[in-house]
Amino acid sequence: MSDVFGQIAHRLGELERRLALVATVTRVTKNNGDGTLDLDDDLGFAPTRVPQASISAGNWQVDAPADEGTQGLLIAPGGVTEQGLFVPILARKDYVSVDSATARLVGPNDESLTLSPEGVTLTTPEGVSITSKRCAVTGEETIDLSAPTVTIAASDALAIEAGAITIKGPVTQTGGDITSDGISVHAHTHAENSRHHYGDGTNMGAPQ
Ligand SMILES: [Fe+2]
Repeated sequence: MSDVFGQIAHRLGELERRLALVATVTRVTKNNGDGTLDLDDDLGFAPTRVPQASISAGNWQVDAPADEGTQGLLIAPGGVTEQGLFVPILARKDYVSVDSATARLVGPNDESLTLSPEGVTLTTPEGVSITSKRCAVTGEETIDLSAPTVTIAASDALAIEAGAITIKGPVTQTGGDITSDGISVHAHTHAENSRHHYGDGTNMGAPQ
């Protein structure tokens, strides 16, 4: 009879252990660098090499490896932690926003991507790189570029069309001719005093 009670007590203990592991709040103590984490619940439960879950849909996924201190849920149906998942979805620092209309992606070095009714703001202290076969920027009112140095490199052609163009500052041009309404700045000539009959009207040399 005591064997039966012993077996029942053992199975109840095992059931309790498995139920406790279905969803447990834990904290990352180490990222093993291979997609697995070592965890700790601060109560003596410290499973190792638990795979990290990633938000994904179709062929898209959010790749944000958890580091030490990240909190989340350990979900391990059946109690086998190595086959469970660590889901880092709980708030961990002071990034809590109360504006439900704004979504923010925040990085560890003041990087942020903010989507709000006012627009999209991308802030990266070290730089932004966009690489694509085609890029199009359309401003229904204005487009502003501001930097101590702005470089435009167009190996084939650069076309500017505007109602008016204003340039403030010295302009230096090399590498070829400048043409204005069909008149070459480099090669045009003037008829020698032809309007005032002081010369014979033959063309003078090109500008020097
Ligand atoms: Fe001239």
